[in-house]
Amino acid sequence: MPSRTAEKPDTDRAESKPPTPGHPIDAALSERFDLAEHRRYLARELDGVILDLGAGGGAMVPYLQTAVQREPALRLHAIEPDPNRRRQAKQTATTHNLDIHLQSGRAESLPYADDTFDVVIASAVFCTVQDPLLALEEVHRVVKPNGEFRFLEHVRSDGLRGYVQDVVTPLWKRIDNGCHLNRRTDDWIAAGPFALDEIETLRLGVSPSRPFVRGTATPVSHTETDSRISDDDGFQELH
Ligand SMILES: C[S@@+](CC[C@H](N)C(=O)[O-])C[C@H]1O[C@@H](n2cnc3c(N)ncnc32)[C@H](O)[C@@H]1O
Repeated sequence: MPSRTAEKPDTDRAESKPPTPGHPIDAALSERFDLAEHRRYLARELDGVILDLGAGGGAMVPYLQTAVQREPALRLHAIEPDPNRRRQAKQTATTHNLDIHLQSGRAESLPYADDTFDVVIASAVFCTVQDPLLALEEVHRVVKPNGEFRFLEHVRSDGLRGYVQDVVTPLWKRIDNGCHLNRRTDDWIAAGPFALDEIETLRLGVSPSRPFVRGTATPVSHTETDSRISDDDGFQELH
């Protein structure tokens, strides 16, 4: 298990101003949390074929545009199940003159062949997907064996806040578009089909949507996964 490290700001890149998200939840996310530095982290030094999972209104577009300027051979794909957000993301990509293949789809059943992507990016998605463990399996399936999964997610807190998140989540997910406050996404990534390469807990987010974590993980073979899952009864726990 990698140690959790302090944040390292990356101020080298100067993206154009991120789009104003069209969906209220996306807008709230952008306004409440300054995610720019962390989006740069997700989009740094990309190479090959990339998937933005649950692209929303296209919040990653400016950062992916910067990545393409550095590496013009990048091939960009995104899925987004919500048609309004998908429309917004397409508009954002057009505005930024970004060539990205955006389509409808769900993380739990990705419309891609095995071993397609060099990097899969997820920002604030695993709080919302219906079946996060199946989604992780799907990410594992479509990422190349030497590929990488990069994530920026809010997760269940420890201590009293975690307990409050458990209690509040049934109501919260109704008013916040299916968002679960208490997903243990970081634990599930580590216990499931990936090995964490790095993970940081971020001083980001306001109660009850905190903490955020960001990190990178690489796929492990299913033989390894099976033995790790049987050692960890908590893996199947869903809230
Ligand atoms: C909080 S928004 C984050 C959007 C974007 N990734 C960002 O960083 O701003 C969560 C997104 O996940 C999408 N989503 C919900 N369920 C999903 C699923 N099963 N598979 C993929 N995306 C999903 C939502 O439609 C929404 O656009």
